Order: sequence, then structure tokens, then C-alpha cells
Amino acid sequence: MGRLDGKVAIVTGGGSGFGAGISLAFAGEGCKVLVCDINAAGGEATVKSDPSSLAFHKMDVTSSADWKSAISSAIEKFGRIDILVNNAGTSYINKPTVEVTEEEFQKVFDVNVKGVYLGCNAWVPQAIERGEGGVIINIASVGATRPRPGLVWYNASKGAVWNATKGLAAEYGPHQIRVNSICPLVTGTGLFSAFTGMEDTPENRKKFTSNVPMGRIGEVDDVTAACVFMASSEAKFITGVNLEVDGGRCI
Ligand SMILES: NC(=O)c1ccc[n+]([C@@H]2O[C@H](COP(=O)([O-])OP(=O)(O)OC[C@H]3O[C@@H](n4cnc5c(N)ncnc54)[C@H](O)[C@@H]3O)[C@@H](O)[C@H]2O)c1
Repeated sequence: MGRLDGKVAIVTGGGSGFGAGISLAFAGEGCKVLVCDINAAGGEATVKSDPSSLAFHKMDVTSSADWKSAISSAIEKFGRIDILVNNAGTSYINKPTVEVTEEEFQKVFDVNVKGVYLGCNAWVPQAIERGEGGVIINIASVGATRPRPGLVWYNASKGAVWNATKGLAAEYGPHQIRVNSICPLVTGTGLFSAFTGMEDTPENRKKFTSNVPMGRIGEVDDVTAACVFMASSEAKFITGVNLEVDGGRCI
């Protein structure tokens, strides 16, 4: 028995890093997943690993029209959508904040905040109409509550997701819709170089471990395991939680 047997999920940013890991972990627990990404090559590569449970849908999370077609596609393919994982995210390269351009600022807020807003607007009505509850998982960041120099507006975008997670949980709890976020520590995904301003090498990874009680940076499966738990009925009374998955970094 899988922990997500019979469930259907949409995972954004499923073509790389956490999103690919979450899609595969959900499939491994019996869930069907619409893997959504703006990058078709990445999304299709994820689906190739488990084509019986995964399907790819190319979309830009900043487009409300793309969200409509993603919802229709998931319902057409799998019949329902129990779980929405708002994972797609972006950052400019770590640098002095006064050098962040308006375009970089706009992109970070468009993908990281507007993408979650549009995703919830598209997914929530069908969940309410089905009347069986559901789960939203937002991928925020430790930077939401422990911002550090050089990523101020990226961290502010995740602060917005952190706050919206609680607001959405309060608003949609009566419909048995649970809304939680996962707040990962820096991890060796496609965004490592943007966050750190360094190439992703074993030596550079070590530079970010000195203030982590558990002595390492994140791994993709740290986050995917937390997402499986939050999506499953094991977390059935947990909502409005922003869960740090960070080896104690935020203590
Ligand atoms: N890796 C880390 O250290 C870390 C730490 C904390 C939080 N996060 C968050 O985790 C999430 C996943 O990031 P990751 O580390 O796996 O990075 P990643 O770059 O490996 O993956 C991000 C994916 O999102 C997709 N994407 C970007 N813009 C999109 C758009 N407009 N529409 C659809 N898809 C889009 C990309 O194509 C890519 O496949 C992000 O929200 C990120 O902010 C990452």
C-alpha cells in the first residue's frame, strides 16, 4: 500500500531539483502526477522515469491561461486533483541588493509569489466543488524567516509564501483543505549557484555547513520525504505549518 494511493497531484517545477524528486516520490507512493514545467526537456526527463504514473504538461506558472489548461489536463488524464505542490521557483544571483534590477525583482515575485497565487486560484475551486478536501504544499525557504545578505528580494518573496500559507490554511480549513509549506536549506539543485554565487562543487558546498547543527547542506530527498508526509493522511490535522527542513539551521 502506497501512502498516496489513489491520489492525483500537480507538481510545478517538476523538471528539475525538488520538483522532479517530489514527482517521483509521490509516484512511488501510488500517486498520479501532472509534472508541470516551463522547461519541456526537464519535465519530459522526469516523466520518463515513471511513465505509468507521471504525465508532463508544459506551463508557465505566471500565466493564468496556463493554469487553466493544467487543471483541465490533469482532470482529463487522471479524473481529479487532490494535491497541489507549488514548487516552481527562481532567483537572481546572490549580489548586493542595490544591484538587483527591476526585471530581476519582478521575475522573482512573478514566479515565486504570483505563481502560487494563480495556482491556488486555479486549484481551490475544483477542490471545494469535489467536497473531499485536499492538500496544498508550497515550497518556501529558510530565507523566509532567516534572511541573509545578497538574496533580500528572493527571501522576501518566500516570506510572502510563508505568510500566505498560514492565511490560506485559515481560510480553507473549513473545506478540509490543508495548506503547509516546506522551508528547505540550501541544496545542490539547479538553484545552488544562484543562491550562493558559487559553482556547485563539493568544496563550495562545505562552505555553507558551518552554521548548520547537523553539519551538511540539504539533499533533495530531505524535502521530498517531508512533502510525502504533508501530502499523506499521516498529516491529516496539520495545516498552516511552515516546516523547516534544514538540519537545525534556523534554531
Ligand atoms: N535548492 C535550494 O537550495 C532551495 C532552498 C530553498 C528553497 N528552494 C525552492 O525550491 C523550489 C525548487 O527549486 P530547486 O532548488 O529544485 O531549483 P531548480 O532550478 O532545480 O528547479 C526549479 C524548476 O522550476 C522551473 N520553473 C522556473 N520558472 C518557472 C515558471 N515560470 N513556470 C514553470 N516552471 C518554472 C524550472 O524550469 C525548474 O525546472 C523553488 O521554489 C526554490 O525557491 C530551493
